[in-house]
Amino acid sequence: MKNISRRKILTSSGAFLGASMLHSVSPISTPLFAADQFTKNFDVVQADKNENPYGPSRVALKAISKAMNLANRYEGRSRRQLIKLIAELNDVSPENVALGTGSGEILKTGGLIASWEEGSIVCADPTYQDLVRYASRERSKIIRVPVDENLACNLEAISNAIKNDTRMVYLVNPNNPIPNVINGSELRDFVTEISKDRMVFIDEAYHEYVKDPNYQSMMGLIAEGKRNIIVARTASKIHGLAGLAVGFGFAHPDHIKEINQLKTGKNNILGVEAAYASYQDNEFQDFSRRKNQESLDIVETMFKELGVRYIKSNANFSFFKTGIPVEELNKKLLEYDIASGRPFPPFTDWSRVSMDRPEHMQYYVKVFKELFGKRILDSAS
Ligand SMILES: Cc1ncc(COP(=O)(O)O)c(C=O)c1O
Repeated sequence: MKNISRRKILTSSGAFLGASMLHSVSPISTPLFAADQFTKNFDVVQADKNENPYGPSRVALKAISKAMNLANRYEGRSRRQLIKLIAELNDVSPENVALGTGSGEILKTGGLIASWEEGSIVCADPTYQDLVRYASRERSKIIRVPVDENLACNLEAISNAIKNDTRMVYLVNPNNPIPNVINGSELRDFVTEISKDRMVFIDEAYHEYVKDPNYQSMMGLIAEGKRNIIVARTASKIHGLAGLAVGFGFAHPDHIKEINQLKTGKNNILGVEAAYASYQDNEFQDFSRRKNQESLDIVETMFKELGVRYIKSNANFSFFKTGIPVEELNKKLLEYDIASGRPFPPFTDWSRVSMDRPEHMQYYVKVFKELFGKRILDSAS
């Protein structure tokens, strides 16, 4: 049904692209990764959820199929092995690491810690919502601090927004939906100071994609033994394991104990084994970064051609001003099998577009320009 109506639209709109275009996108000639075999991945451009279009890596897939035979087991021994590896890779001790069913579970546990008692959580606006949404269902009031005129997280304004009852500051770095980073040394000073009196939660889901030389992970503060700081990372992004839900929390051992007591999920052995393999597969991470950059270059070239404002990306997505209500934009793109990011108020005429494979982003750019290019250029003149 959907295909029929799409074909109709393509024909009636002058069909600048054959409806079969997406289906004819061929996998790279020598398949490096088994995901290439799943041609149904090419049915749509998945530009809405900040996933890795290439993952899991071939190495991870091998580990998953081996782990199938272990599905009768809990993940205990494998979990300890994974925690040890992750600790080594980040120069912390295994006691500094909690394993979560996605970093989402670590975020929600953080939200629970913050909302245990009545108080407030301060965060940037817009930002990723899992932690604060969860905490607001408990006893936390959320204080949202608008990003500044450069769409950057404003540490001074965040500092000023902190009240006596503020129990946590939640920062996403790089941010989502705005893929920019906070200046590293300023953030380090901020976290060191603020964490003297309250928890600071740093969500580094997109850490592996960062290019900005001013960026610093806050993992170093955990290694130094500082308290009241939680850093979250995930295997869902560059490792392409979103569907297997593996994430990590890093903190002082006392906080890790608390996180482990509050968690409700249990990792499955497939995800744990896949992550163990994937975190040692540097080739796949490099490949994913390279492909992500190719895709970003394609969309950023369009942004420049159309003269639209955009934020230089330190992640696997872009954020750009279209001047068109995002619901209208998304509805139209969906007719061409392109799923694009949801609205992020108050930026309702900006669009967050996640990077699919370069060939998919080429198609995205063609469709986008055809549908909206003239309107955007006209409105600028
Ligand atoms: C900033 C941020 N943090 C955390 C997550 C959750 O990731 P997961 O639960 O898959 O580890 C996401 C997912 O998109 C995200 O964008």
